[in-house]
Amino acid sequence: MARKKIALIGSGMIGGTLAHLAAKKEMGDIVLFDIAEGMPQGKALDLSQCGPIEGFDAKITGSNDYADIAGADVVIVTAGVPRKPGMSRDDLLGINLKVMKAVGEGIKNNCPDAFVICITNPLDAMVWALREFSGLPHNKVVGMAGVLDSARFATFLAWEFDVSVKDVNAFVLGGHGDTMVPVTSYTTINGIPVNDFAKIKGVSESRIDEIVDRTRKGGGEIVGLLGNGSAYYAPATSAIAMAEAYLGDQKRILPCASYVEGKYGLDGLYVGVPTMIGAGGTEEVIEIELSDEEKSNLKVSTDAVEELLEACKGLDSSLA
Ligand code: APR
Repeated sequence: MARKKIALIGSGMIGGTLAHLAAKKEMGDIVLFDIAEGMPQGKALDLSQCGPIEGFDAKITGSNDYADIAGADVVIVTAGVPRKPGMSRDDLLGINLKVMKAVGEGIKNNCPDAFVICITNPLDAMVWALREFSGLPHNKVVGMAGVLDSARFATFLAWEFDVSVKDVNAFVLGGHGDTMVPVTSYTTINGIPVNDFAKIKGVSESRIDEIVDRTRKGGGEIVGLLGNGSAYYAPATSAIAMAEAYLGDQKRILPCASYVEGKYGLDGLYVGVPTMIGAGGTEEVIEIELSDEEKSNLKVSTDAVEELLEACKGLDSSLA
C-alpha cells in the first residue's frame, strides 16, 4: 500500500515541529508548503537528514507550489502570523483571514478529499472561514484547540496534585480564547472527579479556580515568555494526535473545534466540543450535560466566536 501523504501548509515553528513528529511516527510522506521561498525546502532537507539517525522512512519535501499538495490525505494548516506579546488571538483576524482564502482555494483545487486540521488563530473563526473558502464537507475540516487547552489544564493539575499526567483527564470546551471553558465536572484524576480529589489532597476551590484561569491564559503566558512568536511543541503534538485518530480510524473522543449544528443550542458554528474522530473525519459531536454555570460560560464563549464570524463577513463579502 502506498504511503499516506501529509501536507503541512505553513512551515514555520509549528509546521516544522509537525513534520518532525509525523516523520518520527512514520505517518506518511510529508510536504512542507510555505510562501517563503527556500525555507520549506531547507527544513525538508534538514528533517530528511534525521531519518538515518532516527531510522524513519518518510519522504520529506518542501514546496512553494500548491500543485505539490495534490492528493494529500491529511492537511494541517498553520499558515499565517502568530501573536506577539500584548496581542490577543483576535488581533490576527484580518491578516490571517486573507491567508485562509488562499489556503482554502489551494486545498479545493488540489486535495478536496483530504482531512483538514486548522491551527491558525483566531482558531474558531479561521477554521470556519477555511471551510467556507475550501468548500469541503464540514466533517472533513476541524480546528485544533481543545486537545491543547485540555493538555495545558492537565499539566497544571498534575503539577498541583503531584500525580502523573497520564492519570489526569482534563476537559476544556468552547472557543480557543480567554473565554474558553475548562469543565471541572468532567475532569478526573483516573476517574476521581477533580473537585473530590482536591478535597482529598487539601487543595482549595480557589486554587482550582486559579488553575482554570491559568489554563485560559495558557497560550498568552508562553507568548509573553518567548517574546517573539507563540507556542509550537504542544500545538503540533495535539494536531498529530488528531491526524492519527483520522488515519487510524481510532474513533477517539477528542475536544476539537468542530462544526456544531443543533447540538448545544448552536446553529452552524465551529467551537470546541467533544468529537469522535475516525476514518469519516469528525464523525460525531457528543453533547454532554452541563451545569447552569457551565452553560452560561459556554454561551459567553460562543458569543465571542459569533462576533468574530460577523467581523470576517465584514472583511470578506464572499463569506456573508
Ligand atoms: N501561505 C502559506 N504560508 C504562509 C502564508 C500563506 N499565505 N502566510 C504566511 N505563511 C507562513 C509564514 O511564511 C510562516 O512560515 O506561515 C508560517 C507561520 O509560521 P510561524 O510564523 O512560525 O508561526 P507558528 O508559530 O507556526 O504559528 C502559526 O498557528 O497557533 C497558531 O497563532 C498561531 O496563527 C499562528 C499559526
